[in-house]
Amino acid sequence: MVKQIRFPLLSILLIIIISSSILPSSCNPQITKSPKINKVCIIGSGISGSSLSHFLRKYSEDRNLIGEIHIFERNGIVGGRTATVTIGGDTFEAGGSIIHPKNYHALNFTHLLNLKIKTPSDGSLGIWDGSQFLIKTLDNKNNRKLISLYNSFRLFFRYGLSLLKMDPFIKTMLGNFLNYYTDLESRPVFETVEEMLKWSKLYNLTRGTLQEELIEAGLAPKLISELITVITRINYGQSMSISGLAGAVSMAGSDDGLWAVEGGNWQIAAGLIKHSNVTLHLHEEIESVSHIGGSYELNSTTGNTYSCGVAVVATPLDEVKIRFSPPISIPERRLQHTHATFVRGILNPGYFGMNSVVNIPECVGTIEDPSLPFTSISVLKKYSEDDMTYKIFSRAPMEDTLLDQLFRTVKEVIRINWGAYPHYHAPEVFSPFVLDGLHLYYVNAFENAASTIETGAVAAENVARLILSRCCGHTSTSSHLRQFVSEVHVEL
Ligand SMILES: Cc1cc2nc3c(=O)[nH]c(=O)nc-3n(C[C@H](O)[C@H](O)[C@H](O)COP(=O)(O)OP(=O)(O)OC[C@H]3O[C@@H](n4cnc5c(N)ncnc54)[C@H](O)[C@@H]3O)c2cc1C
Ligand SMILES: *[C@@H]1O[C@H](CO)[C@@H](O)[C@H](O)[C@H]1NC(C)=O
Ligand SMILES: *[C@@H]1O[C@H](CO)[C@@H](O)[C@H](O)[C@H]1NC(C)=O
Ligand SMILES: *[C@@H]1O[C@H](CO)[C@@H](O)[C@H](O)[C@H]1NC(C)=O
Ligand SMILES: *[C@@H]1O[C@H](CO)[C@@H](O)[C@H](O)[C@H]1NC(C)=O
Repeated sequence: MVKQIRFPLLSILLIIIISSSILPSSCNPQITKSPKINKVCIIGSGISGSSLSHFLRKYSEDRNLIGEIHIFERNGIVGGRTATVTIGGDTFEAGGSIIHPKNYHALNFTHLLNLKIKTPSDGSLGIWDGSQFLIKTLDNKNNRKLISLYNSFRLFFRYGLSLLKMDPFIKTMLGNFLNYYTDLESRPVFETVEEMLKWSKLYNLTRGTLQEELIEAGLAPKLISELITVITRINYGQSMSISGLAGAVSMAGSDDGLWAVEGGNWQIAAGLIKHSNVTLHLHEEIESVSHIGGSYELNSTTGNTYSCGVAVVATPLDEVKIRFSPPISIPERRLQHTHATFVRGILNPGYFGMNSVVNIPECVGTIEDPSLPFTSISVLKKYSEDDMTYKIFSRAPMEDTLLDQLFRTVKEVIRINWGAYPHYHAPEVFSPFVLDGLHLYYVNAFENAASTIETGAVAAENVARLILSRCCGHTSTSSHLRQFVSEVHVEL
């Protein structure tokens, strides 16, 4: 279960302080009575919407550029695809669960909000092909050198030296991703996802499938069709035909040092919203966005209407029914659904041709074979040798009859059907960040590059800068854009 990304820290803060004191004069630098944008309305309270509110405040501090920020959330709780589930009296991550050590926005938010970090330990892994385990590693929770050596030996024995090519492949992607954390002076504000990916040299990875990219990188077919397939299935529920970039991001999720927020990753979104002077509207689903007389009119299912100078979509548009007027046009795509099934009970060792549960690896991943009814089964908590809580990922719902075959006893079941992440393909196509050429923005356009907690924050940071540069001449923008902005400026 993973996703990650990284960056070099350092002088960003300093640059922000400096750059805010030498603001372009086009913005009318004196604190004026009314802000440049009286109201920003954000649809979605996940990591994308919440970090957008954070960066809008952070980058406009003391300059009265942004007035009210409203966040609309159709659910009764913030956090979206970071959510927890409570089963058998314990609480577990139900969606986005693991964060990479180089996910620097997530890490900084966690520190800023005084949240506690926990680092889950490695259990044993087995690759199941429907009739046997192709490979099994040993549980190494206590981080024992000998076991780690044994596990490496097992992997090398099966996959050979091409295992050594996995790491450079991931490192190159991560290295390029780090560019998104460089200082604001040297990092442009991006108007499109393509531009953003090209600048960091990640665009090429979205042109070919993961399979093609890995073969080109010299990885052995067996390694690709087994270990990497398992990783990709667990992280994105998809096969090796996803884009090379989404695949590399998913593979980074097998790195060391992964972490999560104690008590639930959703607290990052909750904390950011709380600290960003946001008016939060829970249980309020936006059903239409209309551009009328220079501002956006948002109607919600509760019958309310809000008028906003800037409107931002911070949720994937592929499955939501928001009506836009005038209509917008974005590439058609679908979401990959991942069924997360939580079971308290005990697996049936007979299903795996074994006579004891202790022989079943703590994480069972499967290869790409349509007859296999699940993607992965992993132990979340062990109460005793015959009482555990498991998380199952599958592409179709886990029906009761199937659970009866897989489990010897089932005490409690919770099912969640996630519209989990984009269904990736190659070459990828991307929606623009600016949906109407004016002030309607789409943070999740970037999700078609890769979907993680961190990519949500990275995209939101760019969109915050884009909003400020297009409203108020803040930070570097192309002269073409400046001119465009001064034309539409009046409408705000
Ligand atoms: C099963 C699963 C496992 C994952 N594992 C990981 C992982 O280990 N690590 C990782 O980094 N990432 C992981 N991810 C991906 C990660 O969770 C997402 O990329 C990230 O949380 C997306 O955040 P977001 O804010 O962009 O979107 P969301 O979290 O989906 O937020 C959008 C919000 O908008 C709301 N909304 C939608 N339409 C409307 C409307 N019309 N009006 C009002 N509100 C609306 C939704 O209710 C939702 O709360 C996983 C995802 C899933 C599903
Ligand atoms: C994270 O915090 C550190 C220390 O405050 C800071 O130097 C760095 O720029 C921050 N990184 C990001 C991506 O904001
Ligand atoms: C929060 O935002 C409102 C609206 O812009 C503003 O009037 C108020 O002063 C802000 N509060 C704080 C504590 O910054
Ligand atoms: C990207 O791919 C194109 C064509 O496949 C190639 O010419 C170019 O050199 C690549 N760029 C990088 C940065 O790898
Ligand atoms: C939004 O609500 C207002 C006020 O009720 C109404 O006049 C308008 O027609 C609605 N817009 C749409 C697109 O439904």
